Amino acid sequence: MNIPSGRARYRPVIAALAVAVLAGAGAVAVGKAPALAAETTLRAAAAKAGLFFGVAASPGRLSSIVSQEFGQLTPENDMKPDTIATSSGGLRNTGNADTLVNYAQTNNMLVRGHTLVWHSQAGQLQGTSQATLNTFIGNALTRWGSRIAYWDVVNEALDDNNNGRRRTQWPHSLSRDANGDGDFFDAGDTDVIRNSFRRAKEVVQQNNLTTKLCINDYDVEGLTVSGGARNNKAQALYDIVRAYTQGTERLIDCVGFQAHFNDNPNSVITDDLQANIQRFADLGVEVHITELDIDDDLSNNDIGQGQANNYRKVVRACLNVAGCTGITVWGIADSESWRSSERGLLFTGGSGNYQKKAAYSAVLDELNKGRSGGNPSSPPVSPSISPSASVSPSTPTDPSPCSATVSLNSWTGGFVATVRVTAGSSSINSWRVTAGLPTGTAVTNHWSAERTGTSGTVQFANVGYNGPIAAGQFTEFGFQGTGAAAGTTLTCTAT
Ligand code: XIL
Repeated sequence: MNIPSGRARYRPVIAALAVAVLAGAGAVAVGKAPALAAETTLRAAAAKAGLFFGVAASPGRLSSIVSQEFGQLTPENDMKPDTIATSSGGLRNTGNADTLVNYAQTNNMLVRGHTLVWHSQAGQLQGTSQATLNTFIGNALTRWGSRIAYWDVVNEALDDNNNGRRRTQWPHSLSRDANGDGDFFDAGDTDVIRNSFRRAKEVVQQNNLTTKLCINDYDVEGLTVSGGARNNKAQALYDIVRAYTQGTERLIDCVGFQAHFNDNPNSVITDDLQANIQRFADLGVEVHITELDIDDDLSNNDIGQGQANNYRKVVRACLNVAGCTGITVWGIADSESWRSSERGLLFTGGSGNYQKKAAYSAVLDELNKGRSGGNPSSPPVSPSISPSASVSPSTPTDPSPCSATVSLNSWTGGFVATVRVTAGSSSINSWRVTAGLPTGTAVTNHWSAERTGTSGTVQFANVGYNGPIAAGQFTEFGFQGTGAAAGTTLTCTAT
């Protein structure tokens, strides 16, 4: 797994955030037990748990609550191309964006730039070429430099209705699938996602920026959608992130789940949210909840405890994955939200005069429990990957065509397993991994493999794209389960 590089990459930003917040709030000494030192703002509680808690805003919303409660700021509209881009990829009208970046810097808040390449709110860039997009990417990245911790380089690349495909309209019309195999990852393909991240990475490297480069989308939050069908949009996003992090190029640093939860079957909060966050984190990228709001319809029009419990679930899922390093709500108060009728945020009121909702208290409480779910003896956690154990090396046949090892992220009653299949001294065309699970353990979900069985002996076989592995190279698949997976045995066979 590529955990070490991912961990190394996100540690500095969070460390800086924690220092900034502790200094700003004059708050609690590191190491105190949460029960004695419950923080009273979202910002401080999150920083103590080793993540940021942020908000989307515009200059007109910068009341004192913003810097008190939030450690991160996303311009809700003021960095979108329709506001700041010229038709040739230059910058214009950056005043509001500057105001927000300056405010964040003054108040030791992280900034997420939002967003560079998007089919919507594209303004004068609408329909333009990759070359002009690249010009804009360079101008925007260098305009604010490392003052922006995270940039959404590509937003909403994937189509709706759980069809697992990319959008076809501009800018995705710039992509070409040369061999018609349905993906855009082959040498002959043109991919606007890859090309935009390549340009962004080049600018980051040439200018020694610390800015991290993110891909962001909605309806990608769960492994499944309402009713239990696979979330094909999430899978498509996973395939993109894997393609551009596991090969020779590491183009993507972070993944944003917008998390605009509502009663659309593809937009509900499923129990496998945490497992989905986990599998992205296992690719070595940071995962963020970037635009959180929770429609009160999701709790039968209950903006009290029902909505509060939904917020709890989302915050807990992030806290339980070390690589989930930030949560951002999409506005302060319901009345000021882009979807005010859904009453999906943490405050009522408006215009700087805000009242906390039950959802606010639930989020604060959950953040105060920390990464471990509230073990009072655990120190504040700066992000680190939860213990991951390699169990049971494979039992290769002779000559060994392939081997399989598993890394586990476990919690009480459940786990996510990432299995690495490595080809031996010859290339292979297809593989099959037989897993012997301990008694009482069952598989509830899997990805990047076909599965037969749920408990006892469970077989995993390659899917179309990950069967061929060159000599000495590897691929990974994963599964989620209930029970404990330590003691699982693995056998790999191949053709
Ligand atoms: C929304 C803003 O909140 C609105 O004010 C604006 O009118 C439309 O855009 N996904 C995104 C955000 O990535 O940029 C969108 O923000 C919400 C959906």
